[in-house]
Amino acid sequence: MPKINFIAVLLIVFSFTAFAQVKSDPVIEDRITEIISSMSVKEKVGQTCQITLDALFVRDKDGKVEAPGQIDPVKLKEAINEYGIGSILNVSWHTFDLEMWDNVISQVHAPFKNGEVKAPIIYGIDAIHGVNYTVGGTLFPQEIGLAATWNPSIAMRFGEVTAYETRASGIHWNFSPVLDLGRQPLWSRNFETLGEDPFLVSEMGKAIICGYQGKGGIGSKHVIACMKHFVGYSNPTSGRDRTPAWIPEKYMKELYLPSFKAAVDEGALTVMINSGAVNGIPGHINYNLITKTLKEDWGFQGFAVSDWEDFIFLNNVHQTAEDNYQAIISAINAGVDMSMVPYNPHYKEYCSLLIKAVENGDVTNERLDDAVRRILRVKMMGGLFDKKMNQLKKYPDFGSDKFKAIALESALESITLLKNEGGVLPLSSSSKVLIAGPTSDNLIFLNGAWTHTWQGANTNFNTVGAKTIREAFTEKLGAENCSFAQGAELYLDKDFEATRLVEMEDFKTKAGKSDVIVLCLGEYPSTEKPGDIRSLNLDSQQLELAKAAYATGKPVVLIMVEGRPRVIRDIVDGADGIVQAYLPGDYGADALVKLLFGEENFSGNLPYTYPKYDGVIEFYDHPRSVARSKSNHFKAYNPQWDFGFGLGYSTVEYSNLRLSSESISGSDSLIIEVDVTNTGKMDTKEIVQLYVSDLFASVIPTGKSLKGFDKVAIKIGETATVKFVLSEEYLQFVDASGNWVSEPGDFEVSIGELLTKFELK
Ligand code: BGC
Repeated sequence: MPKINFIAVLLIVFSFTAFAQVKSDPVIEDRITEIISSMSVKEKVGQTCQITLDALFVRDKDGKVEAPGQIDPVKLKEAINEYGIGSILNVSWHTFDLEMWDNVISQVHAPFKNGEVKAPIIYGIDAIHGVNYTVGGTLFPQEIGLAATWNPSIAMRFGEVTAYETRASGIHWNFSPVLDLGRQPLWSRNFETLGEDPFLVSEMGKAIICGYQGKGGIGSKHVIACMKHFVGYSNPTSGRDRTPAWIPEKYMKELYLPSFKAAVDEGALTVMINSGAVNGIPGHINYNLITKTLKEDWGFQGFAVSDWEDFIFLNNVHQTAEDNYQAIISAINAGVDMSMVPYNPHYKEYCSLLIKAVENGDVTNERLDDAVRRILRVKMMGGLFDKKMNQLKKYPDFGSDKFKAIALESALESITLLKNEGGVLPLSSSSKVLIAGPTSDNLIFLNGAWTHTWQGANTNFNTVGAKTIREAFTEKLGAENCSFAQGAELYLDKDFEATRLVEMEDFKTKAGKSDVIVLCLGEYPSTEKPGDIRSLNLDSQQLELAKAAYATGKPVVLIMVEGRPRVIRDIVDGADGIVQAYLPGDYGADALVKLLFGEENFSGNLPYTYPKYDGVIEFYDHPRSVARSKSNHFKAYNPQWDFGFGLGYSTVEYSNLRLSSESISGSDSLIIEVDVTNTGKMDTKEIVQLYVSDLFASVIPTGKSLKGFDKVAIKIGETATVKFVLSEEYLQFVDASGNWVSEPGDFEVSIGELLTKFELK
């Protein structure tokens, strides 16, 4: 049997190493000094102001933007020439084509090009799963799906394609990636995260940033990345968007900060601030986190932008400022450099209040200059001072088949097989299939929010040529072998997600005539506040539909098309197969068909712990006490599926877990190797996961922590040797005094079912 040696070296310790840290270049800094010294306070304040494109659009007599949107030259001149604003964001209410973007960006850039203002506009967009606001852009799985690939190379290629297509649209700045830790499954933006583990999030996040910004500086095919949302936003205690989180210092350091630190070390140039609050302090006034930790301790040289209207929210939502003047002072002095105001006349008020604050000495000239320096630095490093920008024709690969193939590959490596009993999968191409369920026949469900529109629920903008699950199955099997009955419909009822059963008789009749039922369940697209929910349980109508499918006696494969892991305990046993599709994007249906018919093997693994009960939300790294039961019948830690779980069509055996030494000390490295053999009947890609447990410590140790992973392709009958390198830094934790320390003692290493131990001396 051939033995291949894959060197899966894992050398990155997210909290300690420095990579392409953004360094000030003396030439750039001198140029900035010159520009700043020629600027009035008004011009400087303008640089810190960001408005939304809608604030510049022509409006009808009722105040509505006239579709498809047209910039009002008077408003443009007022904002850029008179107020000197530094940034514009967003699309209007729907996606634009390339020509429209070209038109918008050219107009926005003209005052700088013509020498009327001293600095260019930096335009920002949420291209979070591909350039989702440009018609014909390549749409990838949402971040949670990218995380499920456990493949940084996929994440990097996603970043490269997205950067390319964003630049094709004339835009230099992408409000992505989300580096928030996905530890609150109720949260509407769970799908925008890279999952629950800080190591996985850091590795995948760095890869995306590398794809966005390139390795050697921002070229014409790169964008400026924006780390979101610094920090703790993703863990609202209530589960609802933009509500307070309570995160002890230990967990802030061990769980929530590492992905941002890793991104800063990777060279990420901008950061967006948490719109919520942590420990009673709104993100936007948290001096310790923004100025002390991010800028001073980590040496972040880029700039911090506020989130939507967040200066104003300090007054009218968080109530930490009595008026907008106090709000502005507190946020700027905490270290926020740019304010997403974003409307008219609010931006004018922002500018005049900040000018007044500088005149009054409530914001020092030094602080203002520092903010402007950071903004100009990013503009220069991002190529915005290049007056030739915005050349449409330089991007022939926009929306190309080459890019679509990468999006398809991402979906293929992401979609996760959770159950396969009685050999229901792979499906036979000669079987008669009923495609059913509320998410089976519309692209909006495959893409989720931030797709063509903010909430992604408007079907008018669906990508022409991309297939729904029903369409992909029909193409595969022919209409004669593929019937369709929706069975249930997802909709909004008074702003809340709702489901109703539809045409159940038709569903039952067609089910009776089919060999297998592929039942697509899931969620209505949504994000932020509109995505707030009241329960993690999948609604009773979808459960009823599944039970009706089981009652037919036909084999049933459930396809979960969802951004959050909705609790489906009651329908797990009845299903023969269960597949987690996440929000796989425009090519998700093609990928599903290839996987379900066995043309490709499954290789996605869960990037989170899939809960079984909405009252037991725990994570894989819980301390031992969490798993203690009150009796043998009550398993306290009992998720539906574990973090890192995923099945495939092959079988894989782990053997020969070995360490280079039984102990390490000082700067020693421990080499950990394991053999992984494909004992099945199909080539496979296995995600080898390395976990380490500290057996005893001065504060309760985590049960186990992911310290390395590698996705290796293994052909039938072959063995891969996977190697990890571990050093003392990997064994550190935050002690009772808030310091990172390691303590001597025994540590357990586990890979697959294999366990071994070593000692830290
Ligand atoms: C979101 C950000 C987003 C911004 C601009 C905010 O409401 O929280 O993630 O980047 O809007 O669209």
